[in-house]
Amino acid sequence: MRMRKKKNLEPRLDKCKDITLEYTGEKIDFEKKFGNSNPIHLEIGCGKGAFTAAIAEKNPDINFVAIEMIANVAVAAMEKAKEQELKNVRFMVVNAEKLCEIFPENSVERIYLNFSCPYPKRRYIKHRLTHENFLNRYKIILKNGGEIFQKTDNEEFFDFSLEEYEKCGWELKNITRDLHSSEWAKDNIITEYESRFLALGQPIYRLEAVNRK
Ligand SMILES: C[S@@+](CC[C@H](N)C(=O)[O-])C[C@H]1O[C@@H](n2cnc3c(N)ncnc32)[C@H](O)[C@@H]1O
Repeated sequence: MRMRKKKNLEPRLDKCKDITLEYTGEKIDFEKKFGNSNPIHLEIGCGKGAFTAAIAEKNPDINFVAIEMIANVAVAAMEKAKEQELKNVRFMVVNAEKLCEIFPENSVERIYLNFSCPYPKRRYIKHRLTHENFLNRYKIILKNGGEIFQKTDNEEFFDFSLEEYEKCGWELKNITRDLHSSEWAKDNIITEYESRFLALGQPIYRLEAVNRK
């Protein structure tokens, strides 16, 4: 399905240029872009960026890179970050398939996968962001001991993810099938999709996966 371009998309994107990184096919020098050597946390599929803005505000000493493949959606996230005058966030409109062309090896400390599209049909299995092809990309850009924090409302996708992590040698920890009744609830930042599922009374699945090289 082709998404219609939002009205004024180009001028809106233009106004956010200072917090946007262009995909050029060459690896990015994040120290230079952020002007410091703080740790890099990467969010994949940031959507409209409520989580990005909240976590960046709470953690000024972490540099956040939020990627989203749909410009229409990403622009809302960029505008939020600008409105909050966040200095420690940069956005990229790009598909996560390109991660290894963007991030130097061993450069990322944490990856957030919040409510990634579950792609329930088997023929789209390779689009799932926890398919082994993606996990192997994450392994390259994450530091040894770097981690993925994943949340989803979709049990089948969660079980699929657990299997993929295990198959690819990740260490799993802090797993819950009901985040909002768990010890991780108090520090949890609710994303846009999460608030919808919570309103429907659906449980949220959560895990951490550690990269052991
Ligand atoms: C279901 S939404 C969740 C948005 C947000 N993380 C939240 O929790 O509210 C998933 C987002 O991931 C993006 N996405 C899916 N696959 C992607 C990929 N391969 N690369 C970058 N973004 C992707 C989609 O465009 C969509 O905006």
